[in-house]
Amino acid sequence: MFQQRINISILRMLLAFAMPALAMSVASADEYFKFKNGKLERPTDYREWVFVGAPVTPNELNDGKAAFPEFHNVYIDPESWAHWKKNGTFRDGTILVKELVDVGVKASASGNGYFPGNFIGLAATIKSSKLFADEPGNWAYFSFSTPDLKGLTDTAEKFATESCNACHAGAAADDFVFTQHYPVLRAAKAAGELGAGGKR
Ligand code: HEC
Repeated sequence: MFQQRINISILRMLLAFAMPALAMSVASADEYFKFKNGKLERPTDYREWVFVGAPVTPNELNDGKAAFPEFHNVYIDPESWAHWKKNGTFRDGTILVKELVDVGVKASASGNGYFPGNFIGLAATIKSSKLFADEPGNWAYFSFSTPDLKGLTDTAEKFATESCNACHAGAAADDFVFTQHYPVLRAAKAAGELGAGGKR
C-alpha cells in the first residue's frame, strides 16, 4: 500500500517534469534536418516541402560533361519558406535540397525539349550559425549522390569551403542561394501570403 502510494507520487513528479519538456520539444521541432557526429542524415521527406525551381544544365550545352547533370529540383523546408515569405531572408536553420534528375526523352506530345527522366542524386545546403560558425554566411554543403549516380548515401559530411561555398558566395543572388534561378522564391520574397500564389 505504502509502496503503491510512493510509486504514484513518483509518477506524478515525473509527469510534472516530463509534460513541459514534451511540449517544449514539440514547439522547438522547427529544424528539418538531423546533424549528428559531424554527419548530416539524408532527408527523407523533402518532397513534402516547398518546390522553388528546376534549373537544367544538359550535357549537350556543356561539351557533353555538365558538372551537375541535369535537372535540379530545388526544395526549401516549410518553416524557412514561411520565414522567407514574411521577412525575405533565409533564417538560421534553413535547409534547401537539390534533387538531380537526368534528362529522359527529348520529345513529347507538347514538342521537342528536355523532359525529366530518373532521380540520380541529391545535395543539400544548410545555414546554421550554431553548427557552421566558421563557414562563410554559415552555409555548409552536402551531397548524398554516389559516384556512379545509381544510389544515395544515408549520411554526408560537409564539403570543404572551396568546393562549394566559394562559388555560391560569388555568384548567388541572395545570401549564397541562387534565387535568380528560383522564380518561386523571387515572387515570394517578403510578399506575405501573396507569395503563396498571387491574388485575384
Ligand atoms: C561553379 C559554381 C558552383 C559550385 C562549385 C557549386 N555550386 Fe551549387 N549551385 C550552383 C548554381 C549556379 C546553382 C543554381 C542553378 C543550378 O542548380 O544549376 C546551385 C544550386 C545549388 C543548390 C540549391 C540551393 C542553392 O543554394 O541555390 C544546392 C543544394 C547546391 N547547389 C549544392 C552544391 C554542393 C553540395 C556543391 C559542392 C559539391 C556545390 N553546390 C558547388 C553553382 C555551384
